[in-house]
Amino acid sequence: MSERLPSTRRNRASLAYKLRYAAKNPDKIRPYVGRVARDLRIRLSSRDHVAYYRAVMRSDAARSPEAAVGSRSHERWLALGQMQFDYLLKHGLKPDDRLLEIGCGNLRAGWRFIDHLDAGNYYGIDISPDILLAAQNTLVQQDLRDKLPHLTLVNDLKLRFLPSEYFSVVHAHSVFSHSPLEVIDECLAHVGRILTPDGFFDFTFDRTEGTEHHVLHEDFYYRTETLIALAEKHGFTARFMDDWEELPHGQSKIRVTHSTRDRTD
Ligand SMILES: C[S@@+](CC[C@H](N)C(=O)[O-])C[C@H]1O[C@@H](n2cnc3c(N)ncnc32)[C@H](O)[C@@H]1O
Repeated sequence: MSERLPSTRRNRASLAYKLRYAAKNPDKIRPYVGRVARDLRIRLSSRDHVAYYRAVMRSDAARSPEAAVGSRSHERWLALGQMQFDYLLKHGLKPDDRLLEIGCGNLRAGWRFIDHLDAGNYYGIDISPDILLAAQNTLVQQDLRDKLPHLTLVNDLKLRFLPSEYFSVVHAHSVFSHSPLEVIDECLAHVGRILTPDGFFDFTFDRTEGTEHHVLHEDFYYRTETLIALAEKHGFTARFMDDWEELPHGQSKIRVTHSTRDRTD
């Protein structure tokens, strides 16, 4: 009898899950022990989650920036960027949109947005200086210097230095899947100010239908209703994006808007 649960019901932090996983994947035990040791070491020297995750990115990006943003190969890096780009294009992304990408990484999707948007209309922010340096390499490789994108290091998601009602699209892919709730709360508390009245903010998250949990301090699993309620607490309308579920991607997506109006409705 198989006791395999659907991925949205698994609690990856539970001892039972870890033991089952280890029994099935003995080759993964050693790397996991290495990650546990790194988690402990970095946590002891980090004052908060942003400092912690910045150190994780430093360690991962030193090996491979593409792997640091979650892609096993260059082909997967290209495909994941294409998927994000195609989705926003389908949802009406136009060259004159102004796009803020939160946690832009090494521009896996960003370079396609930059290419599509009018010069100066892309703004990428990230907490990791190492991945932002890798992002500059992507810009050079894709010959996009003339598009003059902004790439900025941040310490928090208060977005203080950005103008009000400026961005028509805000995009965060695979960022809240690495964020504790207080980071998401901070972002939702401030993103409304910089969003145009008819703009939208899309973010992906690792979805659980069971107990919310996290693995080490790197991967966080939330219930949809938790994030929808958090967005509503900050005055947004939030909806689960069913059409994203059709794509071959492990995370889910929520769109928040100032009102119930949406450009795709
Ligand atoms: C898995 S990578 C994804 C990068 C990019 N969104 C993509 O799809 O390729 C997560 C990125 O988010 C950044 N990040 C994590 N927490 C962040 C935060 N609180 N604020 C801004 N960036 C953050 C990381 O440094 C990393 O570059």
